[in-house]
Amino acid sequence: MRPQELIAKKRDGGKLSDAEMRLFIQGVTDGSWADYQITALVMAMFINGLDPGEQRSITDAMLHSGTIMDFSDIDAPKADKHSTGGVGDKTSLIIAPVAAACGLAVPMVSGRGLGHTGGTLDKLESIPGYKVNLPLSRLKAVMRSCGFGLIGQTKQVAPADKKLYALRDATATVPYIPLIVASIMSKKLAEGLDVLTLDVKTGSGAFIQDLKKSKELAGALCQAGRSFGVKTEALITDMSQPLGKFVGNALEVYECLKILRGEPENSMLPSRELSVELTASMLVQSGLEKTHSRARAVIDRVLNGGSALDRFRQNIELQGGDPRICDRPDRLLAKGLKEIPIIVEKTGSISKIDTFAVGRAVSDIGGGRIKAEDGIDHAVGYACIKKLGDKVRKGDELGVLYCRNRKQAELVSANLRDAYTISDEVPKQRKLIQAVI
Ligand code: URA
Repeated sequence: MRPQELIAKKRDGGKLSDAEMRLFIQGVTDGSWADYQITALVMAMFINGLDPGEQRSITDAMLHSGTIMDFSDIDAPKADKHSTGGVGDKTSLIIAPVAAACGLAVPMVSGRGLGHTGGTLDKLESIPGYKVNLPLSRLKAVMRSCGFGLIGQTKQVAPADKKLYALRDATATVPYIPLIVASIMSKKLAEGLDVLTLDVKTGSGAFIQDLKKSKELAGALCQAGRSFGVKTEALITDMSQPLGKFVGNALEVYECLKILRGEPENSMLPSRELSVELTASMLVQSGLEKTHSRARAVIDRVLNGGSALDRFRQNIELQGGDPRICDRPDRLLAKGLKEIPIIVEKTGSISKIDTFAVGRAVSDIGGGRIKAEDGIDHAVGYACIKKLGDKVRKGDELGVLYCRNRKQAELVSANLRDAYTISDEVPKQRKLIQAVI
């Protein structure tokens, strides 16, 4: 069947069979379909929709466009967490060593930051020497030694998604739930997991901001995971303000180390709490712990007793990084940065934070990428001092910008200040975990 026949079928509202979906994904993967044919079909899918059967077929075809990892010779439940992305969202670096210290095997394939959101790989690369480009054979060896590995998507993992996502991004076809599900789940299912916990963000810094839509996405992701035999649970979590204290790569790793060392500052506690909740979901789903409260108790033990930190130290060494940062997290912080306070201009309560704008400000000074090929400055970032609901007086510090020079400060200071709405209205306290699906 020629590409134009499949395009015409979907254009006219038809349903694509399993075999037809495989043909399409094969064409994407082997390069036999031109970009204009791929995007024409994707746009037809976007406009005319995919039914649950088609969603499963495209996920399956994308999953099988590459390797499915096999960790069956590692004697522990294989589990991972995936986040839909946010600002200051640093939980992977806490969850992976904690979950490993609790007895799970965690093959965490992560991504890079783009636009206003950060990425785990960029955070890890702020650790001197740390390597994220490991072949799958090395990932397995690292997992055997310390219980988890953190790597980037290799060419072998769901290659069709890499191509399709770039084309969707360029043709305004990203925000369609069945395509998002196929994209996320093809990569996660390729990890050969028993258990997956999803962190679906909602609020002003999330990729989907509306709670109802976030629930819809979470439901569709869980259904897809379960239909492939993976125990899957989703937590819908608040992203109406940055998570924890810091936004920015090295600063976020510093925050994670403070948590793993049992020395979190108060403003870091939401990062700890969300990491604990997500890991508890992984432990209960895997059957290693019977109840949520028992899982929380075990997690507290590995966090407070230092065994999660020891796992992280081992992992850093195995992945080529400098493990001494575990003893001296302050070594991660670059010398000579300018610290620019962001000052409140009127008295009142913080009733809203444009979290997207905070993430974007950090990206604009080099802490993230605007285009996929941009480089990163790991050192720069922002400390969130005041949070939603806090009462502030004119002249107080909302936060502190860590930047290289005055020009950068001029570029984003006003945007950061304007990201906060100060009014007489005290906002309703938002729960960190909004729902569990
Ligand atoms: N993240 C992904 O990996 N894929 C999507 O389609 C959207 C978000």
